[in-house]
Amino acid sequence: MAEPPEDGPCPRQTVRQGDGGRGESERALATGLRTAGVRQGDVVIATKQLPMGRSAANIPRTIGDRISALQGYPIDLYQIHQPWGFSSVESEMREMAKLLRAGKIRSIGVSNFSARQMTRAATALRAEGIELVADQVQINLLNRTIERNGVLDTARELGITLIAYSPLHAGILTGRFHDDPAAMRRAPLPRKAMFGRARDLDRTRPLIHELGRIADAYGLSRAQVALNWLINFYGDTVVAIPGASRAKQAEENAGAQAFRLTEKELGRLEELSR
Ligand SMILES: NC(=O)c1ccc[n+]([C@@H]2O[C@H](COP(=O)([O-])OP(=O)(O)OC[C@H]3O[C@@H](n4cnc5c(N)ncnc54)[C@H](OP(=O)(O)O)[C@@H]3O)[C@@H](O)[C@H]2O)c1
Repeated sequence: MAEPPEDGPCPRQTVRQGDGGRGESERALATGLRTAGVRQGDVVIATKQLPMGRSAANIPRTIGDRISALQGYPIDLYQIHQPWGFSSVESEMREMAKLLRAGKIRSIGVSNFSARQMTRAATALRAEGIELVADQVQINLLNRTIERNGVLDTARELGITLIAYSPLHAGILTGRFHDDPAAMRRAPLPRKAMFGRARDLDRTRPLIHELGRIADAYGLSRAQVALNWLINFYGDTVVAIPGASRAKQAEENAGAQAFRLTEKELGRLEELSR
């Protein structure tokens, strides 16, 4: 998400994430960090193992490739990408625990796990004397499912951080498609699938308008306001990993950590996003 600040440690909301793909993401990430002069310890690096169609035995088999792709940068957080592997959650966690004890990864997380699956993972790790630190799920002003499906309550009970993916609802919360609905028709399928109908744009226009009103009042962007809501509304439980296709977007998104919306503003956005 964010560029590390020049004068201090990385803020806790800053997570850099590789994303599988035979180590290509990790290699690109490490090359980019090195080129930018970012040292080990200046960033938090998270990556994931894709369990679909694989058993837990794949976890120790592929970690070496990821470590070498990262060219000396450590894996601060290693996540199981989805709960749909061939092996049980418990077997996967036992393999992850071995990696942690061997010093190959620094902490363990999961992604797209339900409240029950998260509890099973946390229980299995606790039996090994290890804490599950994160569940990466979709959360944003247009998707607040975690409040209804038990994930938020369970994360708080177990002390697990929720990493919000698609925190801008694949860019829709920037208001770009509300400003230019025709652009949605040209958008790639995954984005259309999230929000392809004209009536979705109409329904959410008041929220986008309020994001813009707050943004204009402070000289911010709508994306920054939407991200700030996300990292403050849920207290310490939620951090965000916005995507960016341009450096300017990444810089702007990093700026979402530099201010705090008032309680009234957080509440107003909450109301309009229901
Ligand atoms: N665990 C999972 O299953 C899972 C699933 C999906 C995603 N993820 C992760 O979540 C992260 C982000 O996902 P996402 O790309 O769907 O998220 P997103 O942050 O909701 O949307 C990113 C898109 O929003 C637009 N954008 C971002 N910042 C902007 C800004 N400041 N101003 C204007 N437009 C801006 C860009 O669109 P344009 O390119 O059109 O400009 C960008 O590609 C990635 O690390 C990804 O790996 C994880």
